Amino acid sequence: MGVPDLKAEVLKFWDVASCGEVYAEGLSAEQRLRSQAEARYRLEPYIRSFARFQDGTGRDVLEIGVGMGADHLEWARSRPRRLAGVDLTPRAVSWTTRRLATSGFASEVRAGDAENLPFADGSFDIVYSWGVLHHSPDTPQAFREAHRVLRPGGTLRAMIYHRPSIVGLMLWARYGLAAGHPARSLSDVYACHLESPGTKGYTLAEARRLVEPFSACGIRSAVSFGDLLLGEVGQRHTSRALAIAKRFWPRPLIRRLPSLGLLLLIEAWK
Ligand SMILES: C[S@@+](CC[C@H](N)C(=O)[O-])C[C@H]1O[C@@H](n2cnc3c(N)ncnc32)[C@H](O)[C@@H]1O
Repeated sequence: MGVPDLKAEVLKFWDVASCGEVYAEGLSAEQRLRSQAEARYRLEPYIRSFARFQDGTGRDVLEIGVGMGADHLEWARSRPRRLAGVDLTPRAVSWTTRRLATSGFASEVRAGDAENLPFADGSFDIVYSWGVLHHSPDTPQAFREAHRVLRPGGTLRAMIYHRPSIVGLMLWARYGLAAGHPARSLSDVYACHLESPGTKGYTLAEARRLVEPFSACGIRSAVSFGDLLLGEVGQRHTSRALAIAKRFWPRPLIRRLPSLGLLLLIEAWK
């Protein structure tokens, strides 16, 4: 699949349902937004400690890939000087605009592509992106764009997927090993079975190369709620084996294995 075709597939995937809509089915729009945010921060308490939304006060902040806008509202609450957000899909723009309006906030949220950001060089102090840049076909270009729109001294905080991970190994067990393809690579499994088509996971060394344009960085892997089989995780992969695994999963042990976590938490300074 060519890059433009793949990007169209990514857009199509996320425009059917934004990330987290599963926690908000069958309710009014406002209830759905509340329910999604409540489930998000209950299942993923590590988002707040990584994002440090309070740092937005008085700063110019850009979020790439706003999804349903829960984190975007937290940035708005910090009272930034300027708040902007982009997402590939009109669906995410509409959810986020509605969420902010409901709470009495505004932001420059618009449809836009991480690989070609609609902002001038050096426009922002903080660029934030959670679970997005690994979905874009040219992830290195998305990192170069984040670097371009930051001011000198500005910070990128981005989560992308890590490889290997417990989630990846579970998917490999099902779609590689159990399907009679033990030689199938983890990268192929991530691309075909994790989320949108072409989703990537990065090793620590590969992630360091993504942030080469930056002057300094801190990168670490961490366990996600997916690795722990919490919440509605695996709803695309329902099976009896998954239901049994969810019951007996050794969560205390897995919490002690950050090197096999799905999250790669990247902080980089321009
Ligand atoms: C897993 S969701 C994450 C959304 C949100 N950050 C969250 O944590 O809920 C991925 C989002 O990235 C967006 N996305 C994918 N590729 C993108 C790109 N090239 N530019 C901007 N947004 C993109 C999708 O439309 C989708 O809303």
